[in-house]
Amino acid sequence: MDLKVLLSKAVLEKEESKRASRIASGVDLSKLVRMGFNEHPYGMSPKALEAILEASRTSNFYGDFQTVALKNAIADFYGLKFENVCTGAGSSPIIEMVGCAFLNPGDEVLMCPTFAAFLDMAGIRMAKPVVVPLNEDMTYDLDGLYAAITDRTKIIVVCNPNNPTGTYVGKQKLIEFIKKVPDDILILVDEAYLEFATADDCVSMYPLINEMPDKPIVVLKTFSKYYGMAGVRVGYALAQPDIIKALMKCPGSMVSRAGQAGAIAALADKEYYAEAKKKVVDGINYIEKELENMGCRVYHSQTNFIFFDTYMDAQEVRTKVMDAGIMISAPSISRVSVGRKEDNERFIEVMHEILGR
Ligand SMILES: Cc1ncc(COP(=O)(O)O)c(C=O)c1O
Repeated sequence: MDLKVLLSKAVLEKEESKRASRIASGVDLSKLVRMGFNEHPYGMSPKALEAILEASRTSNFYGDFQTVALKNAIADFYGLKFENVCTGAGSSPIIEMVGCAFLNPGDEVLMCPTFAAFLDMAGIRMAKPVVVPLNEDMTYDLDGLYAAITDRTKIIVVCNPNNPTGTYVGKQKLIEFIKKVPDDILILVDEAYLEFATADDCVSMYPLINEMPDKPIVVLKTFSKYYGMAGVRVGYALAQPDIIKALMKCPGSMVSRAGQAGAIAALADKEYYAEAKKKVVDGINYIEKELENMGCRVYHSQTNFIFFDTYMDAQEVRTKVMDAGIMISAPSISRVSVGRKEDNERFIEVMHEILGR
C-alpha cells in the first residue's frame, strides 16, 4: 500500500471514529433501548451462545487460521464448495478486502445511496465512488446504475435489501441487470439483511455463482443481523474460487475461535431463527402500520428496520426519541430497527407524543 493510500485510510478511520463519537457523545448507550443499529432484538440462538462459551475456555489458543470447519459448514449450507467461501471478522472487513483485491486509484465504484462502508472501500484505494440516486420509491435504480457505467467502472455495489431504506430489488430485475453488466465489472451483492425478507422474489443471488461462471459476482453475508451475533464479528463472502483466492490474499480473513464455533452452531439452529424471524416480522408489520396511521410515509421493509418520513426534521425526531430513552437513527429521514414487542409499543407511544397525531 503506498503512502497516499495509507494516509487516506487514516483520514477515513479518523472520520469513522468521529462519526462514532458523535453518535455516542453525551449519551450512555447502555441506558437506551437500542433501536438504531439494526441489531437483532432477540439475540443469538442459545446453542450458538453455548458453543461460544465453550470455545472461550480454550481461547488462549488461536482459532483455526483457515476457518476450515466454518467454511465447510457455510459451503454445505448453500450447496457450494469450500473454495467458494471466504470469511472475515464481520462483513465490514470483507468489504475492505474486496477494495484491496480489486480496486486501483482512479477506478470507479458504482452504487446507489447505501451502507457507508462502500464509500470507504473506494476511498481507501483512491477509487471514485459514483453514487446514483435512488428511485422516488427509495428502491435501487438499476437502470440508472447501468447508464452510469464507464470504462473505468470496476465494481457495482447492489445492497439487497438495502440499508438504510429497507427496500429491495426483485429476483428477475436483478438477474436481468447482472446479465447485461459487462463481464469485467465485479458485482458485489450485499445481502446482510436478506434472511429477514418475506417477499417471494427477494432472494439470494448465490446460485448465480455456478449458473453464470463468467460473471464476477461476490455475495456478501454476515452473522451480525439475522443470526444476532453483531458483537461476535463473523461474516463471509461467496464467490467463484479465483475471486475467493484474490480476497484471501488481503488481510482480514481471520475469525476468532469463539466466533467460528458460534457461527457453525447458529447455522445449524434453523428452528430458533425461524421462530425469531416471525417475531421480528410481526414487529415490522406493527410499526409500519402504526407509523402509517400517524400519517408518516413508510417505505415497506424486507429487513429488521424501517425507513420512514415523519415530515419533521429527522435529527429533531431522533433527539426527542432519544430523550424518551430509545435510540433510533436518522440517516436522512428516520430509521428505526425493530425491537422486542414492549420496545416497539413504547416507541409507537413516544412517536404519538412527538408527532401529536
Ligand atoms: C448493508 C450492510 N452491510 C454490511 C454491514 C456490516 O455488518 P458486519 O460488519 O457487522 O457484518 C452492515 C452493518 O450494519 C450493513 O448494514
